[in-house]
Order: sequence, then C-alpha cells, then structure tokens
Amino acid sequence: MNIGVIGAGYVGLVTAVCFADLGFKVHVVEKDAVKLKKLNEAQSTIYEPGLTELLDLNIKQGRLIFTDQIKPVVEQCEAVFLCVGTPSFIDGSADMSQIESATKEIVESTTFIKQKRLVVVKSTVPVGTAEWIDKISKLYSNGETSYIEIASNPEFLREGAAIRDFKEPERIVLGVASEWSKGILNRIYSSFDCPKIFTDSNTAEIIKYASNSFLATKISYINMVANLCEKVGADISKISEGMGYDIRIGRDFLNAGIGFGGSCFPKDLRAFLHTGMSKNVDFSLLEKVISINEDRPTQMVNKLKEMLWVLSGKKIAVLGLTFKPNTDDVRETPAVGLIEALVSEGATVAATDPLGIDNFVNMYPETAKNITFHHNVEEVFNESHAIVLVTDWKEYKELDWKSVKALLKLPVVLDARNCLDTDLMMENGFLYACVGREINK
Ligand code: UDX
Repeated sequence: MNIGVIGAGYVGLVTAVCFADLGFKVHVVEKDAVKLKKLNEAQSTIYEPGLTELLDLNIKQGRLIFTDQIKPVVEQCEAVFLCVGTPSFIDGSADMSQIESATKEIVESTTFIKQKRLVVVKSTVPVGTAEWIDKISKLYSNGETSYIEIASNPEFLREGAAIRDFKEPERIVLGVASEWSKGILNRIYSSFDCPKIFTDSNTAEIIKYASNSFLATKISYINMVANLCEKVGADISKISEGMGYDIRIGRDFLNAGIGFGGSCFPKDLRAFLHTGMSKNVDFSLLEKVISINEDRPTQMVNKLKEMLWVLSGKKIAVLGLTFKPNTDDVRETPAVGLIEALVSEGATVAATDPLGIDNFVNMYPETAKNITFHHNVEEVFNESHAIVLVTDWKEYKELDWKSVKALLKLPVVLDARNCLDTDLMMENGFLYACVGREINK
C-alpha cells in the first residue's frame, strides 16, 4: 500500500520513516528546498535517536521517497497523512494556514484524478478541524463532488523516544466518519496490538489536547506541592513516590523540577485554553497550570539567591539548554527564563549542552549574547561560583563531582531536576539544593 505524508517536520518525518519500515511505500511532501535536499541525501533534519539509520535503510530499499509535489503523491496514495505545523498565534490559538493550503492542493489533485482519498490529520489541531477541512474541501471543489474524506489520528510521540513510541504505542486514536475510512486505517495499523479507539473526529482531536494538558497539569501540580515542601521541610521525592504507588495516580510525570518546555506542552496548553474560553467553558485550571510553570525558572533563581545571597558579579555555570535530555530541541526550554533572570540579577552565565548550543544561539540570539558557551563540559566549571543543573542529561548525572569541585570558586550546586545523588553531593562537601526539599537536606 502507498501512503502519503505531507510535511517532513518532527511528526511527519518520524511517521514516514516508521511506516516505511513497516513495509509501506511512503511518499513524503516537503516544500522547504533545503530540508528536501538533505532528506534526499538520507540526512535527517532533526535529531532523534535511531532515525538516521532507518531513514537511510528505507531510502535504499526504495520504500521512502521525498518530493515537493503534492499532486503525484495524491495520485498514488489512497491515504495521505497531514503532518504540517500548527504554530501558536499570540492569543494561544493555532495557526491553521498550512493545513488550509495543503487541503487546497490535495482537493485540486483529487478533482483532477476523480478518485476518493482519505486525508488523515496527524498534526495537533483544535477540535472541529476535521469538520472544517471537510467544509473547506467542498468549497475548493468548485461545486464538484469533493473526493476527500477526513479522519483524525493524533500522535503521541515523545522527542528522544519517538521511534519506540511509534512502533509500540499505548493506544492508537482514530476519528473516522465512515466504514470506508475505518477499513483503510484498520489495514494501515493491522500489525499493531495496542487498543485502537475508533471515534468521531472531534473526540479524537480533544483526546490529544486533553492528554497533553493533563500530563502538564500533573507536573505543575507536583511543582506546586514542591514549593510547600521547601517551606515546611518535607521531601517531594518521597511524596511523588508515595502518591505514585496509587495506580489511580501513577508515578509518571510527577517529577518536580524547573518545569516543562518543548514544542508540545506549552503550545497545546495555550491552544486548549483558547478553545475552552472561546466556547465559554471555564478552563481557568489550565491558566494556573501555565502560570505555575512560567514561574519555575524564577523560583530556581530565588533558591540560588538563598544559597549565594548576592548573585551580582557571580559566575553561574548552567548545565543543559534543551527542554529535556536526548534531543537538540530548545523550544520553550526553561533554560531561557532561568538565564534571563540570572542576567537581570547581574550574574554572568557560562552554559553547556551536549546537543543544544547551536539551536539555542539561533533561537534566542539576544539571550545568547549574555552567555559564554562551552562544548566541553569541564570548561564551564572554571572559576564558577555555582552550578545550576537544568537538563537531566546522563552526562551530568555521571560527572565526577570531586573533580568538579576542585574547578569551582564556591562549591554550590542547584539541581533543578532532582537527578543527582544527595548523599554523594553532601559527602563531597557541596552546598547542595534540589527541588522540593530544604537546602542541604
Ligand atoms: C510530549 C508528550 O509526552 C507526547 O505524548 C506528545 O506527543 C508531545 O509532547 P515531549 O514534548 O517530547 O512529549 O516531552 P515529554 O517527555 O512529555 O516532557 C515534556 C516536558 O515535561 C519536558 O520539559 C520534561 O522535562 C518535563 N517533565 C516531564 C517534568 O518536568 N516532569 C516530569 O515528571 C515529566
């Protein structure tokens, strides 16, 4: 079976490569000429463990083809997955212009070949999008029959684990309008054993936003409790453990820290909040989830102040710029807020990251002007007055802290991800603080 994928961004590329690896012939449309050239040379445009190998293999075996032309792809593929971007507008709502222009081209192509095609929306889109695409496709058909039917199939891939998440999903959500589309999607996903939830498109679209918003809510909730722990001398790690054994709650996404970032949680929360408010539903719970998260970097700086007293004139070593480990993605990373707050206190900042430095410099040029970057982690410690660990990279967890201490001006560490061994840090004589616990406890 031939499958089309429109948009070779994060979701599109992973989806295309994994479908090809399952044996489908996959035709990918990418309009960006630079990206297209790279992909045709079997070079991945994103960092994702295992992706380059699968890209190379499936191109060589003839199952993966990249083009900038939608029409031939629509001609050859019964199902076309829409994976274009839906970035945030300033009010939090999603920008649907890429969805609209792809729809227009697909409709024009089907009107030409006069064959029915299934358009499957994988991009994260607000509720009502599939219905809206259906309406717009009829408009673009110029009074002729529309040959497209829409289905919704949200993705739940995590960066850094996207290939495994695609191949071993916990569930597949499919919003369909007919037995015809259900039949095609059942064929595409026939090799997957997990639960498949067939429902209407509005429900499928909400499942995605409600899931991401719920996970983000868990994180802000535990960070709120962590703030209390710091005031009363309790231990958030034990609280997460104690809560997590209750299977109704679950242990995942209860790690307190500097807060969540990335391309999904912040954007999806804003969009879901916007949807709720636009329908006059009280979604203020999500406003709190967002504001608690936005406050996290400042909370960390306040904690550092408790340890160092004066930040002005001090050199702070920041470990980690990406929003989480095993990615080079710095979108909405909490490192930005932290660094900006440190700089406004008059501190100087030296930063390191195994993969994220280049992206950070490109995405935040103004903030980057105030940072000295070091690719070699050892160099960042030199004469620093304190370390703030922002991203829980394995490399940082495995540092030889005795040697690190020798390079510092003051032995002060703020572990903003609770990922270091407290006893070890104390044994090595650090003034050590993590999140949701009193300093040096
Ligand atoms: C998320 C969803 O998990 C995924 O299903 C969806 O498709 C896309 O959005 P991703 O953004 O890749 O995936 O990252 P995720 O691993 O979910 O982490 C998001 C953020 O939450 C990171 O900044 C992470 O550090 C933070 N986090 C996560 C916490 O602060 N505490 C936790 O307990 C878990």
